[in-house]
Amino acid sequence: MDTSGAAADYVLAPANALAVAPRTVELADAAALPVGGLTAWQALFDHAELRAGQTVLINGAGGAVGGFAVQLAHQQGAHVTAVASERHAERLRADGADKVVGHLDHQASALTVAGQPFDVVLNLVRTSEADTAALAELVRDGGVLLSTTTAPPENPGRDIRTASVFLLSKADQLAELVTRVDRGELRINVAARRPLTELAAIHDAAVAGDLAGKTVLTPA
Ligand SMILES: NC(=O)c1ccc[n+]([C@@H]2O[C@H](COP(=O)([O-])OP(=O)(O)OC[C@H]3O[C@@H](n4cnc5c(N)ncnc54)[C@H](OP(=O)(O)O)[C@@H]3O)[C@@H](O)[C@H]2O)c1
Repeated sequence: MDTSGAAADYVLAPANALAVAPRTVELADAAALPVGGLTAWQALFDHAELRAGQTVLINGAGGAVGGFAVQLAHQQGAHVTAVASERHAERLRADGADKVVGHLDHQASALTVAGQPFDVVLNLVRTSEADTAALAELVRDGGVLLSTTTAPPENPGRDIRTASVFLLSKADQLAELVTRVDRGELRINVAARRPLTELAAIHDAAVAGDLAGKTVLTPA
């Protein structure tokens, strides 16, 4: 991920990072699966070991990782609360969110969300250190707080386990995601499809915080 060349026509990649692309979606759209899908999978299953019947709060559910996390957690039999803006609510409910709530008010001294405490809280928003720590208030004793962005506190007490999630390229997990896509169980949500010639402008928009979800780039 820290090597240049992501928009090259050809790249060398280790075979153990690759899986056959899904056959039921446009090949270009398949590009929207690996990073978001694997991050959600590894957070929920490798880190949190999410089980059926558990409750999970996904903060930032409107984005690319969140879209997969909602679907995968629902398929696992968990009760899913998604934190996202209203424009994503209908899609997230259709994808398995039991409840969709608006953005959390981090100004408050203590966070409250209906349904708390949760077995698992997954943070996908670029929160401040203090706001990330405050999310621990939403976790039950002995539960799990994970973040793909700002590192959570190492030991917030009450036997809460915390971890930063860093995506690993695992071909077996990617193959399972592809299988679910081809079975019609996992939806790849593509926010926009743009020509590669617009790459610089797209990066500018990303840096400005104006992009959410996956933008698929296609050669002219
Ligand atoms: N560590 C890793 O290996 C790894 C891997 C993948 C991604 N990431 C990081 O994880 C984060 C999420 O990735 P992504 O691809 O899903 O990004 P994304 O598609 O840009 O989604 C982020 C979402 O957060 C929502 N959001 C923004 N402020 C919010 C707030 N205060 N409360 C609730 N939601 C809010 C936005 O949607 P709305 O405001 O419209 O609801 C947006 O859809 C990014 O920071 C990314 O860099 C890390």
